[in-house]
Amino acid sequence: MNPQRWRLEGQTALVTGASAGIGLAIARELLGFGADLLIVGRDADALEIARDELADAFPEREIHGLSADVSDDEDRHAILDWVEDHCDGLNLLINNAGGNISKPATDYSEDEWRGIFEGNLFSAFELSRYAYPLLTRHASSAIVNVGSVSGITHVRSGVVYGMTKAAMQQMTRNLACEWAEDGIRVNSVAPWYIRTRRTSGPLSDPDYYDEVIARTPMRRIGEPEEVAAAVGFLCLPASSYITGECIAVDGGFLRYGF
Ligand SMILES: NC(=O)c1ccc[n+]([C@@H]2O[C@H](COP(=O)([O-])OP(=O)(O)OC[C@H]3O[C@@H](n4cnc5c(N)ncnc54)[C@H](OP(=O)(O)O)[C@@H]3O)[C@@H](O)[C@H]2O)c1
Repeated sequence: MNPQRWRLEGQTALVTGASAGIGLAIARELLGFGADLLIVGRDADALEIARDELADAFPEREIHGLSADVSDDEDRHAILDWVEDHCDGLNLLINNAGGNISKPATDYSEDEWRGIFEGNLFSAFELSRYAYPLLTRHASSAIVNVGSVSGITHVRSGVVYGMTKAAMQQMTRNLACEWAEDGIRVNSVAPWYIRTRRTSGPLSDPDYYDEVIARTPMRRIGEPEEVAAAVGFLCLPASSYITGECIAVDGGFLRYGF
């Protein structure tokens, strides 16, 4: 075993949506492997609290917070401009920020469905493209997209969320092939129900919770750290021959027929 293949020392990672939930757990995981970080979220106060908490836990790492909305193209440029000005390129991009409005297909206003596309999909596409020149400054770099089981099968998320996450899977496969010769690996993860503030509402209904658990072979909700571990692996040199793949972090949900 070569321990260096399980370390990210000297690498800089950009994690979007890192002030809470899965993104914050990913930030912790990457810091634990030795990376320096730029974390992004919209709420500046929440981001500062997260940054301080991470800095206390990892005083030897460089951690910066940048308040930005990945739905907004000016903000996307501002994020990569910051990286360009302050870092020696970029090693890792984690497209994690995302959100949803769940309703029947015919009930979405145009602003609502277009907004979900901007936040979940176009954000990841544009950030990946804007990051490309910074990622290619290193011999090997990686992008990990946080998708969802909703992009693979029907779940009760609403069609728009499912469409954005399905397109994210195909974007992952295409960019993996297109950018392999540039030394950029592109992979994704597809979580099922994970315990975050986003899911606390629906899961607080005991009947709904029981239905979710009944359809999950491992009979429990996932933890943000369990998604972060899969993302961490896809960032590590240990996964150097893996690209275009998706790891489901779902307690067996996608494999469960009847
Ligand atoms: N939790 C699950 O069960 C689950 C399952 C499958 C997939 N996912 C995916 O996992 C990702 C994270 O979800 P989560 O459950 O961890 O959500 P969360 O707990 O609500 O956290 C979302 C994080 O993203 C930030 N954020 C949201 N929209 C943003 C934007 N437009 N620009 C910048 N930052 C933004 C939030 O901070 P601000 O609000 O301050 O911006 C927060 O830091 C999402 O892509 C989601 O689709 C989650």
